Amino acid sequence: MSGTWGRNIKFSIFGESHGKAVGITIDGLKPGIEVDLDYIKREMVRRAPGKSELSTQRQEDDSFEILSGLFMGKTTGTPLCAIIRNSGQHSKDYEKTKSLIRPSHADYTGSVKYMGFNDYRGGGHFSGRLTAPLVFAGAVCRQVLEKRGIIIGSHVRSIGRIEDRGFSLKDIDQDKLQSLRSEGFPVLDAEAGEAMQKAILDARAEQDSVGGVIETAAINLPAGIGDPFFDSLESTLAHLLFSVPGIKGLEFGAGFDITRLRGSEANDEYYVDDGKVSAYSNNNGGIIGGITNGMPLLFRVAVKPTPSIGRTQRTINIENMNNETIEISGRHDPCIVTRAVPVIEAVTAMALLDNIE
Ligand SMILES: Cc1cc2nc3c(=O)[nH]c(=O)nc-3n(C[C@H](O)[C@H](O)[C@H](O)COP(=O)(O)O)c2cc1C
Repeated sequence: MSGTWGRNIKFSIFGESHGKAVGITIDGLKPGIEVDLDYIKREMVRRAPGKSELSTQRQEDDSFEILSGLFMGKTTGTPLCAIIRNSGQHSKDYEKTKSLIRPSHADYTGSVKYMGFNDYRGGGHFSGRLTAPLVFAGAVCRQVLEKRGIIIGSHVRSIGRIEDRGFSLKDIDQDKLQSLRSEGFPVLDAEAGEAMQKAILDARAEQDSVGGVIETAAINLPAGIGDPFFDSLESTLAHLLFSVPGIKGLEFGAGFDITRLRGSEANDEYYVDDGKVSAYSNNNGGIIGGITNGMPLLFRVAVKPTPSIGRTQRTINIENMNNETIEISGRHDPCIVTRAVPVIEAVTAMALLDNIE
């Protein structure tokens, strides 16, 4: 069973890309939470494809329907279930190549695991479309967190080898973090952003794709959230972040670079100011011993280049077990990084709320 996650709040995700709908059930939300549906819509739009030439021209309708758990604008406390109906699928795109395994997509592993009974159309249950319900759930969780002052935001840290400057590990401006959310291509350095967008368009022109890194921060988290060992906040976040299709790496705070520092440079030394405990640095990314220390939570995830590309690739035919080649003709993102940004923020909100409630 892999479709259900959570300790205090249980999230159950379901659906296939070319089936009737995708959706999520959230069980364990407190009763009486005021849910702003426009807020959810704005988050869904951030993830939706077809907004610019940087993204796939697939026009997916990401409007959601709430089936249960919401009454007169407030949560009832019973399971909140929402679906996003599928429409505009081009299932025929997948008919021609249904026995050809798309390299780096989940066609082979999904077929082995489900003994060929998996719905292969559009990636089925493995499709990026399944991240729409995640964004829905995250948008509900974020509203609860924001009432407590906790703000989550991200920027595109890199595309290919082109880098944006990083967030300050320690002082992250709340207004900036919030305003990044309304940017179509969220970066701190506009010039780097231009170069990144060009790299994406170049990849598209060459029937190829590119990956990148997303840097995410959550601020105003109190100290004391999380647990040691198996349920460390790092473990919980890793669990959810790696559930997002296409995520292949994760580092907290200074990340792998912490290994280049000496203890005297790496340690986040504490001080007290007006009775409040803080640290002079934040190389640990706000988590020590699996528990928040009150500094910003900060991490970076690696997003791989979109698997589906138009170029000819070597693969196998799973039906006749021959070596063949494949050219993928569907409508795919030359880069999924920007569309993954709201998804990463959504699962961060799910992880934090599950630990706080
Ligand atoms: C928002 C989003 C959109 C995606 N869109 C596509 C797509 O259009 N084409 C594609 O081949 N993969 C897409 N993916 C990635 C695949 O779903 C993913 O690589 C595949 O399921 C294999 O899983 P893995 O990369 O985690 O191993 C998308 C991922 C996300 C997060």
